[in-house]
Amino acid sequence: MDNTQIFTIAVVAIAVFTIGGGIALAISLYQAHRLIIETVSAPRSDIVQDHGGHVSGLGETMRVDKWWIEPLWTGFGFLCFVAYANWAGFQGEHYWHGSYLSPFYSPVLFVDLSRVGAAPLEHAWFGLWPDWIRQIWPPFFPTSPAWLILAGPLAFRLTCYYYRKFYYRSYFLSPPGCAVGAMPSNIVAGPTGTKQYKGETALFIFQNIHRYTWYLAVVYIVILSWDAFISLWEGGHVFSGRMGVGVGSIVLFLNPLLLATYTFGCHSCRHLVGGRKNSFSGKIGARIRFSLWKKVTWLNQRHMLFAWLSMIWVGFSDFYVRMCSMGIINDINTW
Ligand code: FES
Repeated sequence: MDNTQIFTIAVVAIAVFTIGGGIALAISLYQAHRLIIETVSAPRSDIVQDHGGHVSGLGETMRVDKWWIEPLWTGFGFLCFVAYANWAGFQGEHYWHGSYLSPFYSPVLFVDLSRVGAAPLEHAWFGLWPDWIRQIWPPFFPTSPAWLILAGPLAFRLTCYYYRKFYYRSYFLSPPGCAVGAMPSNIVAGPTGTKQYKGETALFIFQNIHRYTWYLAVVYIVILSWDAFISLWEGGHVFSGRMGVGVGSIVLFLNPLLLATYTFGCHSCRHLVGGRKNSFSGKIGARIRFSLWKKVTWLNQRHMLFAWLSMIWVGFSDFYVRMCSMGIINDINTW
C-alpha cells in the first residue's frame, strides 16, 4: 500500500467516525430538546413524584449544597477549550516555531509550505499537501493539518468515563448531579411511571470503543514525546542541529507527561493491568501486575484532575508555540 492509499483509508475512517458522531450528537440533542419541551409542558402532578421519600423532576433535589456549581464550571470550561481548539485548528499556520511543534498539529501528515509558521517539509510524514486533496478540499476550510489528526484524541476524550460523567451532567442534564432529578426520568411512560433509561446500550453504544481508543492515545503519547525530544535540537534537526533547551521545550515535555498521567489512569488501563484476575499473590508476574495496578489506581483516583490538567496543558502548549511563532512571545533558550 502506498502513502496515498493509506491516507485515503485514514480520511475515510475519520469521515465515517466524524459523520457518525455528528449524527449521534444531533439525535441526542434533538432528544434532549424534546424531553425539555415535554417536561416543561407536562402538568406538575405528572412531573413530581415521590421515590422513596425523594421528590423527582428536573433539577429537583433535597440537597442543600451548591451542587450546580460543578456541572456549570466544567461545562463552561470545556466549551472554552473546544472554542480555542477549533480556532487554533482553523488557523492552519503558526504551529511551528524553531523546533517546537504545536500538539494540536502533531503528527503533521501533510504540510502546506505557503502557510506562515508551517512545519518544515522534513517533519511532514507524507510530504506536501497532494493536489488531489486540494481539489476536493472545501475552499472555505484552511488546509490545516490539525483536521487530519483530530479524530484520535477526540474519540479518546469524548468516550472517557470522566468526560461522559461531566457532559451527561452539564449538557444533557441526565442527571445534572447526584441525587438531583434527571431529565429522562421525568417523563411518565408505561406502568412503572418512568421512562426506561437505555443509555449506552442504545444511542450511546459507540461509547464502548473507549477501551480501543486507549491504545491510540498511547501512540499519541509516544509521538508527542518524540516532538518534545525534537524540540531540544535547533531547527528541529535531530542529532545534526545544536542541542539546547528552551522554555518551549519544557512546555512540550510537560505535555506528554501530563497526558500520560491521564491516559495511564484510565479505567480501561486499570482493567488491562489488574482485571481478569482472582488473586495477585504467588507468581512474580502476578506481583508485578499488583504493583502496576496500585500505581494505575493512584492515577485513576485522580483521573478528573489529570483530565483537566492535561487538556489545559495541550491548549497552553499550542498557545505558547503559536505566540512564539507570531513573534508575540520571545522564547528564552540556550541556543
Ligand atoms: S476512563 Fe478516562 S481516559 Fe479512560
